[in-house]
Amino acid sequence: MTVQETSAGGESAGQQTATGKKPPSNRAHVIVIGNEKGGSGKSTTAMHLIVSLMKMGFKVGSLDIDARQGTLTRYVENRTAFNDRKGLHLPVPDHRPIYRSELPDANEAKIDERDRFTAALGEMVVSCNFVVMDCPGSDNYLSRLAHACADTLITPINDSFIDLDMLARIDPDTLEIKGPSIYAEMVWDARKRRAGIDGGTIDWIVMRNRLSHLDARNKRDIAEIVEKLAGRIRFRPAPGFGERVIYRELFLKGLTLLDLREKGIGIPMSMSHMAARQEVRSLLEVIGFTPADGEELPI
Ligand SMILES: Nc1ncnc2c1ncn2[C@@H]1O[C@H](COP(=O)(O)OP(=O)(O)OP(=O)(O)O)[C@@H](O)[C@H]1O
Ligand SMILES: [Mg+2]
Repeated sequence: MTVQETSAGGESAGQQTATGKKPPSNRAHVIVIGNEKGGSGKSTTAMHLIVSLMKMGFKVGSLDIDARQGTLTRYVENRTAFNDRKGLHLPVPDHRPIYRSELPDANEAKIDERDRFTAALGEMVVSCNFVVMDCPGSDNYLSRLAHACADTLITPINDSFIDLDMLARIDPDTLEIKGPSIYAEMVWDARKRRAGIDGGTIDWIVMRNRLSHLDARNKRDIAEIVEKLAGRIRFRPAPGFGERVIYRELFLKGLTLLDLREKGIGIPMSMSHMAARQEVRSLLEVIGFTPADGEELPI
């Protein structure tokens, strides 16, 4: 099993094996989950990716850039508590929340945030294979810093014109794309900053989330627009996650559907769980993981 550097990918992806060894570039591959639209599934996607990567044998660091809301931080805390309660040893990431500065001076606050962010990321990029960052559903300095460090940026969107509005302005009659919107412009800016920092590139993946089994016409319209937008604002579309209870019901236990086969969990696998696992595999494949011939990714 390898993760290949994708054509638009960051310089650090290189070739990786599932043995938990550090990537050849000697620094972790950074995956940022971002979208200025709240509630699009960033924290859910982040936790599912973190657990997938750990299951594949990688050492994973995670940074909660939305520390005030703290969804990812609580998810990880809940996982540790579940291990303690049940006497289990499910893998847990090296996790740190990065809080916004409380300094009153705006410039000093930025320096404080940058220093704490850089210190945490700096440690993780040498001790981990992957660092996953969960960003807030709004624009702030920490989130921009995180975006500018991404090798891979994943943007979950709900299947709705409201979510698409963060990426592009769309003509209401023709559904033609009129131009990029605020989040796409922010990513453009992050790409320029990333190029300025180390000449690296950001591989931007947009995934649709909470896909409904109903509403075929809306689904088709959104699919067409996402496809067109991909070329215009340079991202790669990924098949998304369906609307499934399993993506949200395990939070209090700190579990994901990828843990259900572990001993001591006590939740039987269903057809919907298998389908969800396939959705996560598909996302991993778009990120760049290639299963060995005739096999599936081991998650
Ligand atoms: N594929 C899915 N199926 C079912 N429920 C989902 C799915 N993805 C996310 N959810 C639910 O949608 C809500 C929002 O998800 P989540 O908290 O991951 O979004 P977010 O983008 O991190 O939000 P915020 O911007 O507030 O940080 C949560 O209740 C979560 O459990
Ligand atoms: Mg969140």
